[in-house]
Amino acid sequence: MASKCSSPFDKFKVLLGLFLLLINVASAQLSSNVYATTCPRALATIKSAVGSAVSNEARMGASLLRLHFHDCFVNGCDASILLDDTANFTGEKTAGPNNNSVRGFDVIDTIKSQLESLCPGVVSCADIVAVAARDSVVALGGPSWTVLLGRRDSTTASLSAANSNLPSPALNLSGLISAFSNKGFTANEMVALSGSHTIGQARCTSFRARIYNENTIDSSFATSLRANCPSTGGDNNLAPLDTTSPTSFDNAYFKNLQGQKGLLHSDQQLFSGGSTDSQVNTYSSNSATFSTDFANAMVKMGNLSPLTGTNGQIRKNCRKVN
Ligand code: HEM
Ligand SMILES: *[C@@H]1O[C@H](CO)[C@@H](O)[C@H](O)[C@H]1NC(C)=O
Ligand SMILES: *[C@@H]1O[C@H](CO)[C@@H](O)[C@H](O)[C@H]1NC(C)=O
Ligand SMILES: *[C@@H]1O[C@H](CO)[C@@H](O)[C@H](O)[C@H]1NC(C)=O
Repeated sequence: MASKCSSPFDKFKVLLGLFLLLINVASAQLSSNVYATTCPRALATIKSAVGSAVSNEARMGASLLRLHFHDCFVNGCDASILLDDTANFTGEKTAGPNNNSVRGFDVIDTIKSQLESLCPGVVSCADIVAVAARDSVVALGGPSWTVLLGRRDSTTASLSAANSNLPSPALNLSGLISAFSNKGFTANEMVALSGSHTIGQARCTSFRARIYNENTIDSSFATSLRANCPSTGGDNNLAPLDTTSPTSFDNAYFKNLQGQKGLLHSDQQLFSGGSTDSQVNTYSSNSATFSTDFANAMVKMGNLSPLTGTNGQIRKNCRKVN
């Protein structure tokens, strides 16, 4: 060969290579109307099922929102959290942050079976979880956003990644900032996403150390919580993360933090004399700003490392690899 890339065929190969690269880049993106022709009733089906589940039990909206978070922060939004243990891997359900805590699997199963009847093999479990999270927030009075679609489902799950990537309520502010920074989020986005704790419940085991040992908590708030969260026992007894309006997606969470009434140690860290206090003040006085920032951060969270193109699969049963 006298020179590289001289023949017309070599030039063709270069162009073909560029073209394939473009396709590959394009396929790594999600888009908004993926199911418009392949399953036109998909989004309405999910919305209706989430609406029934939330009207049956308001907390389910919180549980479905958290399911999406715990999916996305562990090797991307790939429905790995839904997989049951197999001979080949131990799934994520028994990871510390998930065991006896994460909920909503039955609702996702119901939606999946409805969608498999409507359009078999089309709508991924990961997309169902992403849309259900949005519909849950809307059902509880929060902001809406356009969920980008086209995620495919993983064929494996990682217990160790679930244990190391999901933030602990014992973290201090710098620990929270770095846990989110590891996933590409700013401290501002971390604070906005933490506003999710305006809905839902936590177990005594998640806040016991705070209500018995900390002095950054309103004392009558701590006293009232101790009644149902003894210093030993009662690990699974629940308390609302937002003591004011636990089933409304509003900005009360941030007002609680200003009054030293964050339930989790990690919640109160966002308003503890550090760099995020001013943002808590902003969200507390301006719920529209919180809503906009929250919606934008949710879209970003939903874009974490999706499987696209020929990667992964569309599971028939969200709990099992096909
Ligand atoms: C900032 C770091 C975060 C920490 C340390 C944290 C930790 C926790 C803990 C310990 C609980 C209670 C679990 C239990 O006791 O069973 C909880 C509940 C919850 N978390 Fe977070 N979380 C964080 C961020 C987020 C984010 C980013 C979201 C959503 C985007 C979220 C959504 C929720 C919801 C909705 C609940 C209530 C779930 C239910 O009632 O079923 N959290 N979180
Ligand atoms: C385990 O992995 C092997 C090889 O990939 C596969 O053939 C088998 O079906 C898997 N078993 C389960 C229970 O998923
Ligand atoms: C998960 O919770 C169950 C029920 O409390 C318990 O028996 C099991 O040991 C826990 N698993 C892990 C890995 O902590
Ligand atoms: C936050 O926690 C980490 C790890 O536990 C610790 O090394 C660090 O000193 C703490 N930072 C502050 C400001 O307390």
